[in-house]
Amino acid sequence: MTAAARADTRRNEETIPVLSRWFGSWQISLQRRALSSPELARSYDDAAAGWGRTIARLGFPAAYERLLRGVLRDGAPTTTGVRPRVLDCGVGTGALSSALARAWPVPFRLDGLDISPQMLARAGRRLGDSGLEATLCHGDVRRLPYGDNTFDLVMSAHVLEHLAEPRVALDEMVRVLRPGGLLIACLTRRTALGMYVHLKWRTHRVTPTEAEGWLRGSGLADAHCLSFDDGAFCRQLSVACVGRKPPEDVRLSGVAFWVQRRKQRSMMSQSARFWDRVAERYAKSPIADEAAYGKKLQVTQDYLRPDMEVLEFGCGTGSTALIHAPHVKHIRAIDISPKMIEIARGKADASQVGNVSFEVSTIDAFEVPDETFDAVLGLSILHLLANKEAVIAKVHRMLKPGGVFVTSTACLGDTMKFFKLIGPIGAFLGLIPIVKVFTRQELEDSLTGAGFSIDHRWQPGKGKAVFIVAKKAA
Ligand SMILES: C[S@@+](CC[C@H](N)C(=O)[O-])C[C@H]1O[C@@H](n2cnc3c(N)ncnc32)[C@H](O)[C@@H]1O
Repeated sequence: MTAAARADTRRNEETIPVLSRWFGSWQISLQRRALSSPELARSYDDAAAGWGRTIARLGFPAAYERLLRGVLRDGAPTTTGVRPRVLDCGVGTGALSSALARAWPVPFRLDGLDISPQMLARAGRRLGDSGLEATLCHGDVRRLPYGDNTFDLVMSAHVLEHLAEPRVALDEMVRVLRPGGLLIACLTRRTALGMYVHLKWRTHRVTPTEAEGWLRGSGLADAHCLSFDDGAFCRQLSVACVGRKPPEDVRLSGVAFWVQRRKQRSMMSQSARFWDRVAERYAKSPIADEAAYGKKLQVTQDYLRPDMEVLEFGCGTGSTALIHAPHVKHIRAIDISPKMIEIARGKADASQVGNVSFEVSTIDAFEVPDETFDAVLGLSILHLLANKEAVIAKVHRMLKPGGVFVTSTACLGDTMKFFKLIGPIGAFLGLIPIVKVFTRQELEDSLTGAGFSIDHRWQPGKGKAVFIVAKKAA
């Protein structure tokens, strides 16, 4: 080790968490010194010659391409200029940028930044060969040399996890991203293979839920993870997380922003805490009425087609989405509770279902362009929302013409009006979630008032949930 390297090592006291366990009131945690920037630059300079071959062997070029196609299909960045601007942070040899060029038929202007001169030299040759207009720059992702609100898409693959404080780099990436722009981060996953990467490179390893927390922490909306469909290695090694920078007009300032955020957060966290607490029990509890559940699945599947894009909100532990998955192209399934989503992702992994992405999100925070989905499922959820009218109107906007909204809803106003009085007490004590009381007729009026026509209605018995398929005009 040279004197300069020894000095780096002494100066860098930043650490990366390796393990953390509670034993009663004791927390035992193991940390490891992070590699400093000069150490990282040297290591990547040394790795540069074989880098392209290594990641090709692991299947990353194809996996990146497929991932990016999926991200852009779910919602391409809203661009201003004729030629969208893209930044690849930690561009390496250019694998992610080349994959974007194959996945996105829109000609874009690329900027790439890296701390390793050898990686940059290789990226220059590779991107030049593939005809991409690219400007490469030697620099650190924690101090980006670009102006605020410059790029339509900012991405990085396997860079942030090297940093003891990834938040510093993420804040920079969000700063240079335009409002409405997309950020995509591929990160090392908390798996056995991820541990191998950590041992070699001292990286953080994250679960999808942690990755989403990183992006949300830097102010991105609709942060959600996608797993790599291609190749067992990529799926085990990496998780991709996507978020959108909120448009300027929704980023209120000053006191109004603070008050609104606090109110929303406290309501949401109360609800998320309730569902987190019951998630394990909920996953194990048997279905109350198997015959009715089976019939609702059957009727829903009569409306599904293999080319459909579907959203399920309030997906719980994901059982229904996983049953419908073989009948459609793709399902985005969202839930407010990180614990529910963790269980759902475990089920998807165990059953090897690749076309459902589970995300922590409320329907209020979930943003996609209008007319994105062919079908939206909201099962056992409308009576749990404070603002069912606004949600129904939002579902109507998100559906393509001719799309269907499949709902199953407890209409307590028909049989248990008194719940209006006792429900809030139970919710206050944390025994039940907040439940809104309305009749079946009121629900149907809300749906038709938003522009839906009722295509199918069924109630298995008095006091049972009302099952409705509502259609948006073609
Ligand atoms: C695992 S490689 C990934 C390269 C490329 N994104 C890919 O997927 O093939 C990580 C890259 O991040 C760069 N890097 C690490 N820390 C960085 C920092 N603080 N600022 C900029 N680049 C960094 C490394 O030099 C390396 O090229």
